[in-house]
Amino acid sequence: YGTSKINEQGHLEIGGVDTTELADKYGTPLYIYDVADICSRANQFKKAFEKHNMNYQVAYASKAFSCIAMIQLVDELGLSLDVVSGGELYTALTAGFPVGRIHFHGNNKSPEELEMAVREEIGCIVVDNFTELTWLMAITESLGKKMDVLIRITPGVEAHTHEYISTGQEDSKFGFDIQSGQAEQAIKTIQAHEYVEIKGVHSHIGSQIFETDGFTSAVNEIYKFLIQWKKSLNFEPEVLNLGGGFGIRYTKEDQPLPLENYVDAMISSVKKQAVSAELAIPEIWIEPGRALVGEAGTTIYSIGSRKDIPGVRSYVSVDGGMTDNIRPALYQAKYEAVVANKMNATNEEKVSIAGKCCESGDMLIWDIDLPKVEIGDLLAVSSTGAYGYSMANNYNRILRPPVIFVEDGEANCVIKRESYEDLVKNEFSYRKKAKAKI
Ligand code: LLP
Repeated sequence: YGTSKINEQGHLEIGGVDTTELADKYGTPLYIYDVADICSRANQFKKAFEKHNMNYQVAYASKAFSCIAMIQLVDELGLSLDVVSGGELYTALTAGFPVGRIHFHGNNKSPEELEMAVREEIGCIVVDNFTELTWLMAITESLGKKMDVLIRITPGVEAHTHEYISTGQEDSKFGFDIQSGQAEQAIKTIQAHEYVEIKGVHSHIGSQIFETDGFTSAVNEIYKFLIQWKKSLNFEPEVLNLGGGFGIRYTKEDQPLPLENYVDAMISSVKKQAVSAELAIPEIWIEPGRALVGEAGTTIYSIGSRKDIPGVRSYVSVDGGMTDNIRPALYQAKYEAVVANKMNATNEEKVSIAGKCCESGDMLIWDIDLPKVEIGDLLAVSSTGAYGYSMANNYNRILRPPVIFVEDGEANCVIKRESYEDLVKNEFSYRKKAKAKI
């Protein structure tokens, strides 16, 4: 993957850095990000749009992995940024990300979060529902500040993916229902408002999508309504945001399409629909999360205890698990792994990789072929760059691992390992009635 290779010592090297040296220096578990891989994917998206000479924005969905360094890299790459909470927005602002390129998503943004976005004058808010719209109208009015919005709609397209990460179907918590006239009502309300300006429409059909037809169907479906709304509201979107969800390779069963295929398919279906409907061709925006960072991330664990059940299975435990990667437990997600300090050894045994949480479901990989592993060997699990750190948690009071960016033979720690002190830093004693102000 990316810049990874086997070095002369037979170790896994990423970005020109020996991963076993990183494990020595920073301890395990640890996340490593291949910066060149992220850059190359960002450039593939940008080139794909530039080929078509279109106005576009590629907004990195920061829920996949947000931290100051990552946001700064996104800025350096000239991408826009999608945030979904006050916390993600705060991180972006702290990183100095240009506010005009920030888009704010979410199905239950609070008035405080909306106010923060309006005060900071971010690029746009993707309005999800009437409650939010009512709040936003009041906030913009009282601050006397304008805000551009897209309205999120659910086009009724089901992506072929896990049901928890499928979002475009009609029966979804996200966005305005399109069939019942709610989306139309929302646009009408915005058109009549002085401070909220409608820029366009947003749809996200789901994640880990390996075909282009879900996007094409969404475009076709959206245009059925855009044609109506042109007549009924004289509304024409300047922007069509088609969301993220471009599939990546977790295991060899996954066959991702070249990123430009998605862009080509979106652009050609939008152009076709717009021309036949005699509507102006809108800017196309997309929001990749995992496609930018997923394959760039690798987690290194140390191998610890082992349980062999004769004739049944061998469990090999590592020093992390569902606290740093909840995806196997939550979505039955599959991963591949290698032994970073034994890259030239041949596979000799089938084992199952267990996490260290007190939870039977904390299994990272079932039945994987590996060289004979020993205590202290380093297991490298690939494609952990998206929704790994960002969904990490302190279950069992396990510490969140550090994050290291590697590039051109250099390693930079961008998030340090949590400490035991961090675990209790917001806590107060019970009996002593500490000076907690609630
Ligand atoms: N845009 C919107 C509106 C989204 O809801 C999402 C993901 C994305 C973009 C980015 O999707 P991506 O390109 O990363 O697939 N935690 C889950 C994924 C939940 C995704 C939620 N929304 C996972 O680990 O697979």
